[in-house]
Amino acid sequence: MTIKLNINGEERTLDVEDDMPLLWALRDVVGLTGTKFGCGLAQCGACTVHLDGMPVRSCQTPVTDAVDAEITTIEGISGRVAETVQTVWADLDVPQCGYCQSGQVMAAVALLTENAKPSDGDINDALAGNLCRCATYHRIRSGIHEAAKRLEA
Ligand code: FES
Ligand code: FES
Repeated sequence: MTIKLNINGEERTLDVEDDMPLLWALRDVVGLTGTKFGCGLAQCGACTVHLDGMPVRSCQTPVTDAVDAEITTIEGISGRVAETVQTVWADLDVPQCGYCQSGQVMAAVALLTENAKPSDGDINDALAGNLCRCATYHRIRSGIHEAAKRLEA
């Protein structure tokens, strides 16, 4: 089928199967490979993108569910919150291997957009489904607190 998607502010026309996961449409059809495949089961968060600003697991989101939404991937995030998170991630050397990190950043940006000063508990709750095999969790938490501080200043 042919569908139109709004991806990172651009309208794209794609020829896809109607049950294709959004992740494959983004990676294989559009070529946006910053969003990663981890588990394919909505359990690791590596594939996190935003639909209308809300974090979703693109591996378990049928591409047809995204038709009327604004889709944002790691390649397209912008604005003060996103830029601050990305700067802090670099300043604090948050990533180790990096594989999970686009999903972590997408989750962190969504959290800080909703909650300007999240507690450790808020961070744990919001990012509970974003797994990191390198166990960078303490740096992710520090990064979110630091981004909140810089955004407040
Ligand atoms: S690849 Fe989607 S949650 Fe793991
Ligand atoms: S930085 Fe390696 S999996 Fe998270």
